[in-house]
Amino acid sequence: MARIAHLSDIHFGANDPAMVAGTEAWLAEARPDLVIVSGDLTQRARVAQFRAASAWLARLRDAGHRLLVVPGNHDIPLYDVARRFLSPLKRYRRYIDDQLCPWFEDDDVAVLGLNTARSLTFKDGRLNSDQIAMLRDRFARVPAHKTRILVTHHPLFAMPIGKGNELSEAVGSHDAAVEAVCEAGVRIALAGHFHRTYAESARKMVEKAGGALVIQAGTTTSTRLRNDEPQSFNWIHTTGSDDIELQVVVWNGTGFERGNHVRYCFTDQDWVRHELNQVPKPRAVA
Ligand SMILES: [Fe+2]
Repeated sequence: MARIAHLSDIHFGANDPAMVAGTEAWLAEARPDLVIVSGDLTQRARVAQFRAASAWLARLRDAGHRLLVVPGNHDIPLYDVARRFLSPLKRYRRYIDDQLCPWFEDDDVAVLGLNTARSLTFKDGRLNSDQIAMLRDRFARVPAHKTRILVTHHPLFAMPIGKGNELSEAVGSHDAAVEAVCEAGVRIALAGHFHRTYAESARKMVEKAGGALVIQAGTTTSTRLRNDEPQSFNWIHTTGSDDIELQVVVWNGTGFERGNHVRYCFTDQDWVRHELNQVPKPRAVA
């Protein structure tokens, strides 16, 4: 079994220090096998914001956590046009991680992070052909019993979490990416970007999606919320590749506490959802 904390959209520069400390306290107690951060470490890619993000990651590492981090669109400068186009992720590479497409593998899981942040399409993400080739290649070498997990900032699939629940934008090169996800046997596709939690079988979104379960994280510490959904992160347990538990851990005003708990079982070629405990939809606490 693997126990994974999936955090996202940290946004140093526009986040709440109490929530940042709350992540450290919660993780210190839960001791996950892996902490994933799916992008937007900063609000505007400024040096001070990257320094604060880097210090937070260093504290998590010092506490013994293993980390896998990918950049988000906010980690590329927006207003500094020269930097945005000439060296968009230079600060990210300096302060966070030189590796933009990180890899983690243990006895239970194989996790690939892919950078979807681009200079030209500031808000929308994209995968290029090299990354799609990397996706196929890395997972092809993984033993069959390990759960294959893909991490991006922008979701690969369009899903009903846009404003007013309309369909969100899918990542650029969507068709090729989805085909590779299907063929590579990706079981869990983790992303953030929309500051809204969501989980659904990829088959509900595209016809040929293989056996992927799509799991979106809300923002963990940003003060900018969507639909008044409170800050949160995902607590994921995998038991093999056919049995995945997801619990949303929600900010309650003073700390993070466990909320909705759902189990997904892969049966008859699709994911079946079982509610383990249904918590009333939480609202943001000011
Ligand atoms: Fe964000």
